[in-house]
Amino acid sequence: MAKKALWSGRFREPLSPAAFNFSRSINVDELLWREDIAGSLAHVEMLGAQQIISNTDAEKINRGLKSIAKELESGAFNFTDEMEDIHLAIEQRLIEKIGPTGGKLHTGRSRNDQVALDERLYLRSAIDELRSAIRKLQTALLDQSKTHLTTIMPGYTHLQRAQPVLLSHHLLAYVSMFGRDDERLAECAHRADLSPLGAAALAGTSYPLDRESVASALGFRGVVMNSIDAVSDRDHIIELVSHCSIIMMHLSRIAEELILWATREFGFVTMSDSVSTGSSIMPQKKNPDMAELVRGKTGRVYGDLFSLLTIMKALPLAYNRDMQEDKEPLFDAVKTTHASLGIMAEVIATNTYNAARMQSSIESDHLTATELADYLVRKGLPFRNAHEVTGKIVGYAEANNIALRAIDLKVLKTFSDLIEKDIYDSLDPERSIAMKATSGSTSVNEVKRQIKHWQKKLLHQ
Ligand code: ARG
Repeated sequence: MAKKALWSGRFREPLSPAAFNFSRSINVDELLWREDIAGSLAHVEMLGAQQIISNTDAEKINRGLKSIAKELESGAFNFTDEMEDIHLAIEQRLIEKIGPTGGKLHTGRSRNDQVALDERLYLRSAIDELRSAIRKLQTALLDQSKTHLTTIMPGYTHLQRAQPVLLSHHLLAYVSMFGRDDERLAECAHRADLSPLGAAALAGTSYPLDRESVASALGFRGVVMNSIDAVSDRDHIIELVSHCSIIMMHLSRIAEELILWATREFGFVTMSDSVSTGSSIMPQKKNPDMAELVRGKTGRVYGDLFSLLTIMKALPLAYNRDMQEDKEPLFDAVKTTHASLGIMAEVIATNTYNAARMQSSIESDHLTATELADYLVRKGLPFRNAHEVTGKIVGYAEANNIALRAIDLKVLKTFSDLIEKDIYDSLDPERSIAMKATSGSTSVNEVKRQIKHWQKKLLHQ
């Protein structure tokens, strides 16, 4: 049952138990207690400095808030069924502890700008944690790519074997991917880095609040310019969760690939026992459950994004209670994405890649056919004709169940008399990789350059 609410002055009847339970949010927003207290401390210090309340009162409130923080930290804070949300719970406790002076804390402030502030502060630390989890995953990928600088694998298009590439190059593609995620998060943090406090309910307030000093005390680079925007904007939350969705989409791509690679059919990777599970009925099974769960949780984070977009859709300005519903999807997306990045880093770090198996799948599938065509082009044949001739040679190899480089020179010459003995260099997968001349290609030198780039970058972040 609700205690007499701090906002209940104009009401003759208390909220019904059903209405109170329906609207209370403390079970979710209690997570924001640190942010809430940090915001209140900065606010009350400014109230004192501006002589809006006396310094003695400001100090009393400051001490009260700090001791409440200790209670919350130690678990001594008594969360009860009468509490509506974390803002009111802390304020009520403050009044309980220091008496009516506690009631001065909320001068010039509304829960509307208070919750907006708490969420921006939460976003800041959530982004820091996500970025460091991204770095750990990038490091795991980078370490594997250093180990596999000479491991050749089939590169794929349409999930059909296409051309030989270095496993290292393949893994570094993921490092680049997560590099963009990291950049997106940094940009999101920058945009969110403004204090909404001082907007009060929506219109600002007649107290001479010093918004800038509160903002800088809380480490923001400035204040939100428009008070209506300050209390009604949740863009940064939607941005963060959409970045989380993109991260999960990336994770689900690696996950899917690992699931495929761990099959007997591929046999490219063996996942460590420490991240694999068994079957309760089939004793021989070793399942890639971590990767599957990451793939599955991707759907959940997309759901969070859609919840948020739908909650905010068509909301008139400024604050509406609908917005209270933003926290569950926000917290869930951050927690899920963080955990998924963490487990994927562990999976990658403990993977054993099967170089021999990768190598042997190159031989059987004419992966150097493009090199053969390029060879003919270098000898003067237009690329289209070279493609045609090469296609015929591949057809011959298929029909005779023989690798391209095992075809006799005399036979090759029947397809084109431009072909000489040096053709066999082009048909060697290792040579094919070495011959790549473009920047960003799979040649060993270019891959080494990427490794250097990321090593430096990850070190300095
Ligand atoms: N629990 C509320 C939320 O998260 C706090 C703001 C409530 N403001 C109000 N005017 N009812 O959105």
